[in-house]
Amino acid sequence: MAGNITFTMIKPDAVGAGNSGAIIKMIEDSGFKIIAMKYTRLSRKRAEQFYMVHKERPFYNDLCDYMSSGNIIPMILENNNAVEDFRKLIGATNPQDAAEGTIRNLFAESIEANAIHGSDSDENAGIEGSFFFSDMERF
Ligand code: CMP
Repeated sequence: MAGNITFTMIKPDAVGAGNSGAIIKMIEDSGFKIIAMKYTRLSRKRAEQFYMVHKERPFYNDLCDYMSSGNIIPMILENNNAVEDFRKLIGATNPQDAAEGTIRNLFAESIEANAIHGSDSDENAGIEGSFFFSDMERF
């Protein structure tokens, strides 16, 4: 059964461009409740750890540079069918393929600097949420 929790983070391009407020408003207007939130920055080492699953990908090094280049806003969100519905709200990884009106369609700069992350499964929502929020089990 689909869970009601997902993990997201607003990425350095969107925070740096001053779009975090507009993105958070879209998230709340779409029915997601923010139940944990941080304003922080990843070190290069922490970015490498977060994206370890992509270690063999050609874009891994650039991705770690980019994700440690500026501030981010990780959040835990609550809603029915949270993982799947949130991925609909953010749109495809490549903003060129993201449906009109999605967060990436409106705010992403490129396939790498794509404004926002959304977990792709309930299991990964738990793993990724725990990376930023030590009290994840309370959700
Ligand atoms: P996300 O799906 O949130 O997490 C993995 C990230 O890797 C993805 O967003 C992009 O930021 C980045 N990414 C995925 N595919 C590519 C690619 N082909 N080239 C560069 N970056 C990518």
